[in-house]
Amino acid sequence: MGEDSPPSGVDVTVPNVARMYDYYLGEKDNYAADREAAEKVIAVLPGSPVAARANRAFLMRAVRYLATEAGITQFLDLGAGLPTRSNVHQVALAANSDARVVYVDWDSMVCAHSRALIRDPGNVGVIEADLRRPDTVLRHETTRELLDFSRPVAVILVSILHFVDGADDPWAIVAEYRDATAAGSHLVVSHLTGDLVEKARPEQTERAREIYRRTASPVHLRTHQEIEDLFKGDDLVDPGLVWLTDRRPDEPDPDGSDVVRLTAPPERTVEEAPGYGGRIPVYAGVGRKP
Ligand SMILES: C[S@@+](CC[C@H](N)C(=O)[O-])C[C@H]1O[C@@H](n2cnc3c(N)ncnc32)[C@H](O)[C@@H]1O
Repeated sequence: MGEDSPPSGVDVTVPNVARMYDYYLGEKDNYAADREAAEKVIAVLPGSPVAARANRAFLMRAVRYLATEAGITQFLDLGAGLPTRSNVHQVALAANSDARVVYVDWDSMVCAHSRALIRDPGNVGVIEADLRRPDTVLRHETTRELLDFSRPVAVILVSILHFVDGADDPWAIVAEYRDATAAGSHLVVSHLTGDLVEKARPEQTERAREIYRRTASPVHLRTHQEIEDLFKGDDLVDPGLVWLTDRRPDEPDPDGSDVVRLTAPPERTVEEAPGYGGRIPVYAGVGRKP
């Protein structure tokens, strides 16, 4: 990314979660403030880049499962993030050329980059909106044009709900999306948990959260039960709400990154991230509306 020419309206002096995540993924759509903040997080939680890649791998595996095994052709990806080497619409369209994907993000740079990547405007749309306003997202003309809510839709909330404050009631937000969808629709969630923190690295976790507090998106850690409650009204697809890397880990990643056996600088592998016992502190699951 050209450091001299940030897109208009983008404040590159304040670290931004979309661009920090982009940095963890080894991509280039980030600025000095993002890299500096991300490196501070990595200094206390060295597994962060591996966690980001494992999260993407989970997302891609989930989309492939939905598109191939669950018969889903419509995807609403909320808090979609900057495009990276493999993206929801590419995996969905590879499985079914009639697939439809709507990306939603409140970050204008994310939306601009996503739009630039789209080669199939009849199948893929991008909305700049706050996912905490389901009504705005669901009534948006792009959503209405691309998605048919009388048929099943996959609602994707991957690595995003931990940025939604409890005061905004993420459970009610998710329920509003679910209520708008037909039977057979699916919900895909990954979410940072605090379940390992007290047993492991409370000070380091607190320092990382402090860094995120300086972004527009402070992190809210939740328990397994709180995250499972997001699926209320859905049947959890086997194996339920599990650790991020434990959901169908034997399948190859659609983008070939094979994150479980990822080769990364040793100080950045999950195993080398002391304190979490080799675990990425993220739960992931897929639900189906009966
Ligand atoms: C960590 S990235 C996750 C990207 C992608 N879902 C993934 O898992 O790879 C979080 C994204 O959510 C977006 N975001 C955060 N809060 C949001 C909100 N209230 N509405 C829409 N997007 C939001 C950020 O701009 C960022 O792009």
